[in-house]
Amino acid sequence: MQIHETIASLRAVRRKTARMALVPTMGNLHEGHIALMTQARDHADQVVATIFVNRLQFRPGEDFEKYPRTFAADCERLEAAGVEHLFAPTEAEMYPRLQTYQIEPPPEQAGILDGEFRPGHFRGVATVVMKLFQIAQPDVALFGKKDYQQLMVIRNMTQEFNLPIEIIGGETVRAADGLALSSRNGYLSTAERAEAPHLFRILTKVVEAIRAGSRNLSLLEEGAIAELQDSGWIPDYVALRKKLDLQLPSAHDSGLLVLAAARLGSTRLIDNLEV
Ligand code: PAJ
Repeated sequence: MQIHETIASLRAVRRKTARMALVPTMGNLHEGHIALMTQARDHADQVVATIFVNRLQFRPGEDFEKYPRTFAADCERLEAAGVEHLFAPTEAEMYPRLQTYQIEPPPEQAGILDGEFRPGHFRGVATVVMKLFQIAQPDVALFGKKDYQQLMVIRNMTQEFNLPIEIIGGETVRAADGLALSSRNGYLSTAERAEAPHLFRILTKVVEAIRAGSRNLSLLEEGAIAELQDSGWIPDYVALRKKLDLQLPSAHDSGLLVLAAARLGSTRLIDNLEV
């Protein structure tokens, strides 16, 4: 695998590549990331992974400083997955000066759900992804459904700016007990790790209730929030939304998604399930 620290070096690859797939990450790679790399293989002759912990998408007081940085282990995993290129820029390469031009996603998409609890987060994500798209100029880019709202924002940004990039969503990869894999799972204590899959079980129950015909969505949301609280979580939201645009469903909408974010101790976990 070739490691590129500069934009110039990655651009040189672009010029020689017929079809390129991009898989942006912040590193500390797990099987969820690797599944995206494997899927990317089906769409391109050269797969480019990126590792960059993007300061712009963290709020003051969030975990930018303590975000796990495991570069050597990440490289080994990418090698094993057969990834050809890794773009791992320094902060000075990505942000040589203050990033004064930024992508501001509309509040209807980026100010709800996670965006309500992490103001400015999706501006930081959209801005870095736009930069990565311009730097790598991929034909296809892959993102996980684990971060469903992020995937939606990136899809819409790509469409509205007419970027010639196909956006592909990868299914959420879970541990055997149902917990969605996440770099932040590493923050959990042993007791918290044992409790963590409860979030997935609660979302599963909501999905089953809807499939069984229950249509009182607020009641289901409130019940899930109460169950999380009773088990020691501090929920930000549990929300039933339309899969397509994450807006509120009306009475007979189908294609629903249940999304949740909640803190267990000091660790904030998110998850979602399609109904
Ligand atoms: P990161 O959290 O490292 O995730 C990188 C990609 O892996 C994202 O598309 C995310 O949705 C996907 N992913 C994470 N956990 C997953 C799982 N359990 N199953 C499937 N896919 C999973 O998301 C980011 O980084 C950043 O916001 C980024 C897009 C790189 C911009 O900085």
